Amino acid sequence: MYCMNTQYPISINKGWSVLIEHITSLHASKVFVLVDENTKESCLPILETNLSLDLILIEITSGEVHKTILTCQHIWDQLRIHNADRKSVLLNLGGGVIGDMGGFCAASYKRGIPFIQIPTSLLAMVDASVGGKLGIDMFGLKNMVGLFKNPSAVFIHTAFLKTLDPQELRSGFAEIIKHGLIADSTYWEIIKRIRTLENPIEWASLISRSIQIKSSIVEKDPNEQGLRKILNFGHTLGHAIESHFLGSDQHLLHGEAIAVGMLLEARLAYQKGLISMLSFDEIYEYICTLYTDTIIELPSLDRLVEALNNDKKNEQNQLAFSLLEDIGSCAYNVFVSLDELALLMEWYKGHQSNLNQ
Ligand SMILES: NC(=O)c1ccc[n+]([C@@H]2O[C@H](COP(=O)([O-])OP(=O)(O)OC[C@H]3O[C@@H](n4cnc5c(N)ncnc54)[C@H](O)[C@@H]3O)[C@@H](O)[C@H]2O)c1
Ligand SMILES: [Zn+2]
Repeated sequence: MYCMNTQYPISINKGWSVLIEHITSLHASKVFVLVDENTKESCLPILETNLSLDLILIEITSGEVHKTILTCQHIWDQLRIHNADRKSVLLNLGGGVIGDMGGFCAASYKRGIPFIQIPTSLLAMVDASVGGKLGIDMFGLKNMVGLFKNPSAVFIHTAFLKTLDPQELRSGFAEIIKHGLIADSTYWEIIKRIRTLENPIEWASLISRSIQIKSSIVEKDPNEQGLRKILNFGHTLGHAIESHFLGSDQHLLHGEAIAVGMLLEARLAYQKGLISMLSFDEIYEYICTLYTDTIIELPSLDRLVEALNNDKKNEQNQLAFSLLEDIGSCAYNVFVSLDELALLMEWYKGHQSNLNQ
């Protein structure tokens, strides 16, 4: 499978020769590969066997807490020590952390060397590796420093998913659900038939459709001036929930928080008369089926609003959301009042016991 994006090639299960040919076409002087301890163990052997090229390894420690300038210094230093020049290429072999940070380091090292995204988590395959957003966390803020720059290519190989933790797999799946809900009702129908992620799944076709949806939105609005905001569906409340739980014992992955965010924001859309009860029930039922153990005690309205006020999607001091208008269609810059949020919280509290079953 091969998705030809206007700006860079994206291949899905296309065979290793595609990657080899791409690296050859870059006339790379040296090929570096960035890994963390998990992708070094599970994914690097597959890459090494299939590439049979001399690879210079740069290893970092896994986890969002290491998506920092300190780790970048280590990456830049390793590039320097091994005499990377502007003809060198960096392969980012890992999840979104490796992709975002490796891309950021490559885009800035000696004013930029080419990099290839080889995403190994589902989230990175359907989301992080496409769209050109690169960056790191700083001063306690996610993706505080970064830039937009496209990779030279994206190479997806779904066999990498075999070693991914099931919780991580389900987290990435939330973005697939989002793509169906915001842009394609036929895709949503296909997604809805997947009742558990434990059975074999045709990942390549799902990833391919998700990438088509994301890249067509990004192409129309690369700098997030308008339309691209629909990719934030579920993320306004989802991010507020995610940051609230960062400091607690309950560990929520990004996609798990987004699943709850989508549930709540779908309810908001229903409350505002944007979607029917029938559509809301469908979304509610599906998210509860896959994410039942993620249903959580929400922070208080005050805490949520505090987190929402820091959200970059707000305009003119109003809370701006991306809300569904129908299944497969999403509006952006929909303003939501505090009263509407209070009503939503009431509903959630009343339904929490049902949701947990
Ligand atoms: N640039 C974008 O547009 C964009 C979009 C969404 C998310 N992101 C970023 O992506 C990051 C989250 O990405 P993520 O969820 O992939 O997290 P991650 O990179 O931390 O990966 C999750 C965990 O899975 C491990 N792992 C990855 N692939 C594996 C495999 N095949 N086998 C075994 N273990 C494997 C990693 O080592 C890590 O421990 C965040 O930093 C987020 O900001 C960026
Ligand atoms: Zn997300």
